[in-house]
Amino acid sequence: MNKETKKAWENLQSECLKCQACKLSKTRTNVVFGAGNTETRIVFIGEGPGKQEDLKSQPFVGKSGKLLDKMLNEVGYDRNKNIYIANIVKCRPPNNRDPFPEEQKACFAWLVNQIKLLDPKVIVCLGKIASSAIIKRDFMVTKEHGIFFKKGKRVFMGTFHPAVLLRNPSYKKPAMQDLVRLKEKVARMGTPSLCES
Ligand code: URA
Repeated sequence: MNKETKKAWENLQSECLKCQACKLSKTRTNVVFGAGNTETRIVFIGEGPGKQEDLKSQPFVGKSGKLLDKMLNEVGYDRNKNIYIANIVKCRPPNNRDPFPEEQKACFAWLVNQIKLLDPKVIVCLGKIASSAIIKRDFMVTKEHGIFFKKGKRVFMGTFHPAVLLRNPSYKKPAMQDLVRLKEKVARMGTPSLCES
């Protein structure tokens, strides 16, 4: 990021941390803005913070996060080095329910601005909520995971949410194949060195 973009990023983050645009702000402990390498060109998008994420203000640090880290490591990726991770909603939905459409809508501008500033080449959506908010409304993870969708200058892929993989270990293999495909795609795209370093 150049100096100007970095400043805009910091402003965005500090504004987001004060957000009260929906009711989730009343029950959160912390806003979970996102984490990872802001210089990468690969962004992962989850659904929303769970209990651990809400307490630590970090995405994917609970059980799902541990699995995600393990899978990333298997393809040689490190979440702090090769990717940036954000969520559709930045505050925890009570009892880990799905974020309501109005909550997703209220939060969406933060993500849109994060994407503008990060300017990723590839966006990976984890699970149905993220894939249908970002790729297409009727996205079906079991049928369309691993497919690359080109929209404008970016490529999008939906894959299984790690929480689903914890409940259905039989999906782990196709989910790993999606990450392998991602890695191959990134290599073919000749992405800036930081993604692959
Ligand atoms: N699940 C998500 O979708 N996001 C997180 O940050 C943690 C769990």
